[in-house]
Amino acid sequence: MIETIARGLEAARSRTHRLTSFEDGVLTTQHSRLMSPLVWDLAHIGQQEDLWLLRGGNAACQGLLSAKIEGLYDAFEHPRAERPSLPLLTPVESRSFIADVRGRVLDRLDRAEPEAPDGLFPFVMVEQHEQQHVETMLATHQLRDGESLLGPGAPLPAGRVLPADSVLVPGGPFVLGVDGEDEPWSLDNERPAHQVDLPAFRIARVPVTNAEWQLFLDAGGYDEPRWWSERGWAHRVEAGLERPLFWAADGSRRRFGRVEPVPPDEPVQHVSYWEAQAYASWAGARLPTEQEWEKACAWDPVLGRRRRWPWGDEGWTPERANLGGEGLRPAPVGAYPGGASAYGVEQMIGDVWEWTSSELTPWPGFRPMLYADYSAPFFGGDFRVLRGGSWAVGGAAVRPSFRNWDLPVRRQIFTGVRLAWDA
Ligand SMILES: [Fe+2]
Repeated sequence: MIETIARGLEAARSRTHRLTSFEDGVLTTQHSRLMSPLVWDLAHIGQQEDLWLLRGGNAACQGLLSAKIEGLYDAFEHPRAERPSLPLLTPVESRSFIADVRGRVLDRLDRAEPEAPDGLFPFVMVEQHEQQHVETMLATHQLRDGESLLGPGAPLPAGRVLPADSVLVPGGPFVLGVDGEDEPWSLDNERPAHQVDLPAFRIARVPVTNAEWQLFLDAGGYDEPRWWSERGWAHRVEAGLERPLFWAADGSRRRFGRVEPVPPDEPVQHVSYWEAQAYASWAGARLPTEQEWEKACAWDPVLGRRRRWPWGDEGWTPERANLGGEGLRPAPVGAYPGGASAYGVEQMIGDVWEWTSSELTPWPGFRPMLYADYSAPFFGGDFRVLRGGSWAVGGAAVRPSFRNWDLPVRRQIFTGVRLAWDA
């Protein structure tokens, strides 16, 4: 167990290095006001690791940085837009700081009690935190102007032709959320497991593709207020939205500095909640709720219990889902027949985050974890829940119960759409 956790921490770190091993200017420039300079993410990863693993979360206790410097990496204190003006550590200082923290953390982990998941939880929480920032840093790279620093991405499995259909999820109770005994590394907002009764619904077998989104464009979907909610239309007008972010009018897209034709059979990505909602109305559908999404993903109606993954209880492998970031893009639809859920829904894990119609609220019986401000400050805000993880997410940082959330206008993240219907 301890070796697995150490390997997970090192896997997250090697991804961090891959996204930050560039000349200083790449790290210190703010490539978009939506994002931090990469050098902020880099040292923040170490600051959080120092706080949770070397000081047990006690911020009053002095860490490896002075209190003044450490404060610069408090995400609540300093919004992203102002981070480039802060007297941050340099790239060299940041790398040496995070290496120093990691060395001490691995010593602590070696001395940890191997059979006590509660004691090991903070290590995996920190691993997931670093993986989340890796995804954020990928979004920064995608927003950055200039030539590609990351290459084209590794090959992904080919898609297969599927009927553009949906599956029926019959009505009835299922278990939503998880408990620590079954999913020891689940975060606070995924817990506790509780029974929920849902009416029958239909859900699309695969996410909406670029080719399907192009039909929406061709039909004038961005010009017809009737498909949009009132707030969605107001935003579409104000922000001048005309097509997914990074698409050009000539049918090309920009992906990590490379211009290429938009691949028709890939799930669409870089769309906001408002666009997702408008597309769904145009298609005669709606977005799933997160409860519906989780039932379609994890419930096994034959055995009457949850699966740990859509395909069963065995862990993630690259044959089952597009996670881990190597491809630098979603895989075409139909690429993962072996990843189908009990209901036959495919590509729920990986590829693109899927917008749901749900706002972020706590499950009944919610209890904040060690990192108490991870979820609780965001409950009841103007956020929509996203499910399933994207191609950019580390395999240890997502589960069927995992809940992500963001503002409905956001689209620099790797977001897509899956349709649902009342049955
Ligand atoms: Fe963070």
